[in-house]
Amino acid sequence: MSFLEIAKKRSSVRSYTEQKVEKEKLDQILEAAHAAPTAANLQPVHLLVVQEAEGMAKIEKAANVFHAPLAIIVCADHNKAWVRPFDKKQTGDIDASILTDHMMLQATELGLGSVWVCYFKPDILREEFHIPSKLEPINILVIGYSAQEEGDPNRHSQTRIPVDELVSYEKL
Ligand SMILES: Cc1cc2nc3c(=O)[nH]c(=O)nc-3n(C[C@H](O)[C@H](O)[C@H](O)COP(=O)(O)O)c2cc1C
Repeated sequence: MSFLEIAKKRSSVRSYTEQKVEKEKLDQILEAAHAAPTAANLQPVHLLVVQEAEGMAKIEKAANVFHAPLAIIVCADHNKAWVRPFDKKQTGDIDASILTDHMMLQATELGLGSVWVCYFKPDILREEFHIPSKLEPINILVIGYSAQEEGDPNRHSQTRIPVDELVSYEKL
């Protein structure tokens, strides 16, 4: 599959089979995260992999993870993240999200379904997983084998704003 084929094939999966994600596939997903860029290569990120039933039960206290067999909590360390000197904008959330996107697309390429989850209770997540105060959970990437119908790869003309609304070109 070309990159564009993978990007168009991916859609949010909110129903999963009970099949576990194989270690080789998880390792490949984590390798994709490891290859992701971060601002100034500071890597202010940490991944917490949750796959045991007990862990999934804990995560379900904080978020709907759709009974998936695997979730990766993507955390940012804001003290380690790059800060733009002009306006002090800090890139921890951006860095964490680039890793998340790399993993999500790698999961698609491996035939897995996924959904990016931000609707979670951060305090509960922090408490359940003893996430240290220096880390902030930014995203949860839920992964597993899809139990829902595959999204139409050509659906984006209906489900996204038109490209000419998305993009503008500087006029010379
Ligand atoms: C930053 C971000 C946060 C999201 N949070 C959630 C969430 O908490 N729960 C959920 O079911 N989907 C969540 N989604 C999935 C979006 O709703 C979904 O990507 C969007 O509706 C487009 O649909 P598609 O992924 O099928 O193309 C999130 C996606 C992004 C990028």
